Amino acid sequence: MFNVIKVKLNYMDEATGVVEVPRISWQMVSDERNCYQKAYQIQIAENERFNVILCDSGVIESHVSAGISLTLKLQTAQRYFVRVKAQNNLSIWSEWSPYVCFFSGIINNEWQAKFISVETEKDADNSKGTYLRQEVFLEKRIESVFAYVTALGLYHFYINGQRVGIDEMTPGWTSYHKHLMYQAYNVTELLKTGVNVLGAHIGAGWYKGLMSFNHIRNIYGKKTAFLAEVHVNYADGSKAIFATDENWQGDNSPVVFSEIYDGEIYDARLEQVGWNSPGFKESKWQNVQVENCDKSILSPQYASKPGINDYLKPKQIFQTPKGETVLDFGQNMTGWIEFFVQGKEGDKVIIKCFEVLDGEGNAYFANLRAAKETIEYTCRGSGMETYHPNFTYQGFQYAQIVSWPGTPLLENFKACTVHSVMEQTGTFECSNSDLNQLQHNILWGLKGNFLDIPMDCPQRDERLGWTGDAEIFSRTACYLMNTYAFYEKWLWDVAVDQTVEGGVPHVVPDVLTGYSDNDVLLSQGTHSAAAWADAAVILPWSMYLTFGDTGIIRRQYSSMKKWVDFMHFHVDDKGIWSYKLQFGDWVALDAKPGDYFGATPNELVCSAYYAYSTLLFAKMARAIGKDSDYETYFILYNEIVKNYRKNFFDAEGNLLVQTQTAHVISLYFNLIDEQYRTKIAANLVALIQKENGHLVTGFVGTPYICHALSQNGYAKEAYDLLLKDDFPSWLYQVKCGATTVWEHWDGLKPDGTMWSADMNSFNHYAYGAIGEWLYRAIAGIEIDEQVPGYKHIIFKPLFGGAISYVKAAYKSMYGDVSIYWHIKKMEGLVTIHVPVNTTATLYLDAIQAISEADSLIFTNDDKSYKAEVGSGEYTVTFTL
Ligand code: BGC
Repeated sequence: MFNVIKVKLNYMDEATGVVEVPRISWQMVSDERNCYQKAYQIQIAENERFNVILCDSGVIESHVSAGISLTLKLQTAQRYFVRVKAQNNLSIWSEWSPYVCFFSGIINNEWQAKFISVETEKDADNSKGTYLRQEVFLEKRIESVFAYVTALGLYHFYINGQRVGIDEMTPGWTSYHKHLMYQAYNVTELLKTGVNVLGAHIGAGWYKGLMSFNHIRNIYGKKTAFLAEVHVNYADGSKAIFATDENWQGDNSPVVFSEIYDGEIYDARLEQVGWNSPGFKESKWQNVQVENCDKSILSPQYASKPGINDYLKPKQIFQTPKGETVLDFGQNMTGWIEFFVQGKEGDKVIIKCFEVLDGEGNAYFANLRAAKETIEYTCRGSGMETYHPNFTYQGFQYAQIVSWPGTPLLENFKACTVHSVMEQTGTFECSNSDLNQLQHNILWGLKGNFLDIPMDCPQRDERLGWTGDAEIFSRTACYLMNTYAFYEKWLWDVAVDQTVEGGVPHVVPDVLTGYSDNDVLLSQGTHSAAAWADAAVILPWSMYLTFGDTGIIRRQYSSMKKWVDFMHFHVDDKGIWSYKLQFGDWVALDAKPGDYFGATPNELVCSAYYAYSTLLFAKMARAIGKDSDYETYFILYNEIVKNYRKNFFDAEGNLLVQTQTAHVISLYFNLIDEQYRTKIAANLVALIQKENGHLVTGFVGTPYICHALSQNGYAKEAYDLLLKDDFPSWLYQVKCGATTVWEHWDGLKPDGTMWSADMNSFNHYAYGAIGEWLYRAIAGIEIDEQVPGYKHIIFKPLFGGAISYVKAAYKSMYGDVSIYWHIKKMEGLVTIHVPVNTTATLYLDAIQAISEADSLIFTNDDKSYKAEVGSGEYTVTFTL
């Protein structure tokens, strides 16, 4: 048996509204081991019968089965069908794969639609909802219909009273003046021959509502606007286009107020029954105005749009000592509460969301800062009413029910999590339940903060695309979820928001530059901080490793180059680059009491990241054949490392900076003189011992501290550090009942007090960057940099930490990569799964002997047993 079972488009399961043929990948299965591809053929056709072939690759002799680009000029609003067959190394051809299809967007941005709005300049200061509608007449039998939709603000789109799609918070958040995404929907089933109604509900969202801790509104504009184009393909081959224009009508909606931080006020008495269906009389509605907006900045969001992912029932409803009625969902999350209420006309429901209870067990709102996270609903008074917010989201585990008609019961509520829809690719389970909870918390940290952009936190008046947080968590995120479309989209904004000189903003989309003059810190600078700005290089690198995709390197190339050149331009005569505001080892515990800035000097952090990003850029240049750039930047890298050693080490090879973080990044980024490696690693261990076995690292040191130990002969110490469960540690949070990852090690201190409310998120994924160590080191699923994208897998499990078993898997483009290891007394067992068309190297470190090799041929030195493995499943037993 040899089959092609799954075809992926742009590394994802869907590709809606694309303007180029998506890159094609496929998975194969075989009942033979050591199976790989010798040749393939791809066809793209006009229909599922494949009788009109638009593009045929022909038989291509190649081992490549991921990320293939084909050239075909797409037509606007058409469906395309793709299938693949492959030949294996035994010269057996598979059948054609099941087909997948994609449909195209508006090619060359040739829009007929106009942006329209029913708001005027006078609406600049409000954040209300508006309705827009138009009747359209379809005169013939329909073959297919595609809709392309976006807004300045947020929108819900309706056809004949039915909500189109399952996406939320569309069109997402981009740097709206330079980049706006549209969403594409196959709406064939929603329209009929005859009269149809197109309707839209619009809210303020990120576009014109109040944003950032600077509390600025109208950052992108004063009026919301909407754009839609519906392309009808009639059965007789003719076409029609219906588009937003001056003939549409608009009115206010029952959303009286809705903003990202503050929540929503909805008055159900203002609902207009049937407003988005045929036959509605819009006598008091107004004509819309056409807005002049640049349509060349539009691009399709082909996958990973935000949506509802999980539904959670509340665990309990209780009274706090203060007498507040509080709902507890048992999980910190991001999304909203849907409720079912029966009240009289005018009765009010008021709900205030929050994350944690205070020391006395009362509702704690202080860490939300100015964000109100409040939902206010006025009943229409007709039976059971169901509601959830339209244009806002909350970060919460709890909600205080401030007002409710009658007595609220558990069954009146359900929580809906909202985040960008991505396939979960990574799973990790082991014998230590605290570690399993940590893995859960890391995953939920991602779920809570990947809402169209990688945010820092989902609850307070911030929720911004902090580049540093995104950078340190990117490798972990790439294990947990298929992040391809999500990161690709955000990196576009990283590039468009870069300064002319190549500086990278602290947050993307950049809502700080130009608005931070009164901010104590940010008045010093709103872009180009080490470890933050390096997201411009490190994210493409993480994606290249994970997907083996060179397309992302090509698209981000000039952005990456500009950033490295920016650092180079700001170098002083000692070879140290620096620029305005730096965050250094942010919120490290070796900071002065109450301070955010860790003890590791900025110069060292800047230089270390300068070296790291320059090296990664050089490697990526080489990966796409830009050899002369590779040479130039590799020479630069060597120079940076030379200066680093000169500036930060004494003549005996000791680091001049005695912090854990300085040691961690010097080791992990390989910035040390090799002859001193043992000594520096030993000194890191000593620095940890000095803290009684604890870490005191911040954003810069934390992601790599366990790697720096385990890669340098201190696996036991790495495990000890990970498994600490007293303050400060990852598992201390777990022991405190955390369900997500905290922003501060001392967010909640052992004495029950909290870090100051001015910056204390309990859902901040940054320190969840340890997730990478669980997958890469403990489970030992490692990417081979030379053959990325899991084409060649390195399995190198790390036995220890009294863990008796680990079960971990990653869904790669080639299929499931998995490992199970089990240790009982001195006997061990490892089962690995290697997908078809990949190979692996299995390393078993620190074992005595192989007992059962399952046909694998092991070689060994005194450190490790090693076998080269072809596709298939293998179980090896050994003694320790
Ligand atoms: C954010 C962080 C961010 C930091 C940088 C904070 O307010 O929440 O996660 O990286 O600022 O200064």
